[in-house]
Amino acid sequence: MNEDSSAKKELAAVKGTKDILPGEVEKWQSLEVLARTTFELYGFRELRAPVFEATELFEKGTGATSDVVTKEMYTFTDKGGRSLTLRPEYTPSVVRAIIEHRLDLEGSPMRYYYMGPMFRYDKPQKGRYRQFHQVDIEVFGEKDAAVDAEIIEMAHALLGKLGVAGTETLVNSVGCRACRPAYSSALREAAAKRKSELCADCQRKAETNPLRIFDCKVEACREVAASFPSIQDFLCQECQDHFRALLACLDVLKIPFRVDPRLVRGLDYYTKTTFEIVSSGLGAQNALLGGGRYDDMMKDFGGPDICGTGFAMGIERVLSIAELVPPQKKTLYLAYLGDEAKKAALELARFFRSYGVECLVEYKDRGMKAHFGRANKLQAAWVLIVGENELKSGHFGLKDMATGRQVDGPREELLALLRES
Ligand code: HAM
Repeated sequence: MNEDSSAKKELAAVKGTKDILPGEVEKWQSLEVLARTTFELYGFRELRAPVFEATELFEKGTGATSDVVTKEMYTFTDKGGRSLTLRPEYTPSVVRAIIEHRLDLEGSPMRYYYMGPMFRYDKPQKGRYRQFHQVDIEVFGEKDAAVDAEIIEMAHALLGKLGVAGTETLVNSVGCRACRPAYSSALREAAAKRKSELCADCQRKAETNPLRIFDCKVEACREVAASFPSIQDFLCQECQDHFRALLACLDVLKIPFRVDPRLVRGLDYYTKTTFEIVSSGLGAQNALLGGGRYDDMMKDFGGPDICGTGFAMGIERVLSIAELVPPQKKTLYLAYLGDEAKKAALELARFFRSYGVECLVEYKDRGMKAHFGRANKLQAAWVLIVGENELKSGHFGLKDMATGRQVDGPREELLALLRES
């Protein structure tokens, strides 16, 4: 490798991260606008938490036995000797913020949303990155299964606006602290019988938290796990009633779904409802979004006993299949000739921009032909001609680049034309 190419390699984006460049970023912006407006229709408000938190927050919240915590966290010690972690998910941060600011005492609906980067050290592949982005929503203080159905419906509404079709909605209940221990024992027993067929990681999970065997991506473990008992047979009355109520509400909302008793999800905190929306168009990483109920997290953090439910959607995955057409930009290109006209172009651009017209002046002395060539290349919607004669008369030429039609007039008249189109 020569010096030049090794320097280039060192300066490349880190594996598993990527730049979102102009041309692609417009789709991100459209998604963000649609997500924001959709969530606000359901009474959600934005809550922005820091990108890094005390490591303990995720160990306690996301769960000490989850793959995310045991294998995937970006954890570092800062100069003050504190162990910090780049958030691998958002849910524990929201719960911390509620407790810290006592948002539960404000009386407003506790419905929050957020969009931003998350960090997980997993093997990068299509649809799986080390810095990826989530749209996250959380609701607190609503025990009723109707709210679980409402957020699933909200996810469908958003995916519809994003032009994502061909999805499947999977739902399950993972029980609660009353009924899960019996299920865990049954799983432990089933796993012990087939321990030799499991990977080393799952052999360990078989003892620590057998539920996590369902997260394993090794084919042999998946086959073994398929023979394990179903959580549906172990739910207590309360969890059964809650699950039935969820399915009834989904029917009311006409959301097609499939009950998947293996859907335990990879994070430790879930209670009762879990769900995922998957797409066959995505390959191995097929989950567009996932979520569920976590009624114990706030209490476990030492806060009030307030239940929670929510989901997070992976922006990269959704955008890879979304049929989104971002609004077309309409740029006014100012073509000036000479020094005086350059100054006038500066001022004219300020005038038009103050009325919301996007303007571009490139401060390179070009001839008129070169200006038009450049405006064409940039796909400018209009060109404003600012030459010596125009300066004297105060009338400028405005050319519509799509039709080739030119109108001459004072800037106020041209502004009216620009704003009409
Ligand atoms: P999660 O299932 O870990 O849940 O992630 C949610 C979504 O984030 C996934 O369905 C996927 O679309 C996307 N995602 C996850 N990891 C990656 C990755 N490495 N690269 C690209 N996309 C990824 C949670 O994070 C929970 N906090 C969801 C939740 C909110 N549960 C309750 N409230």
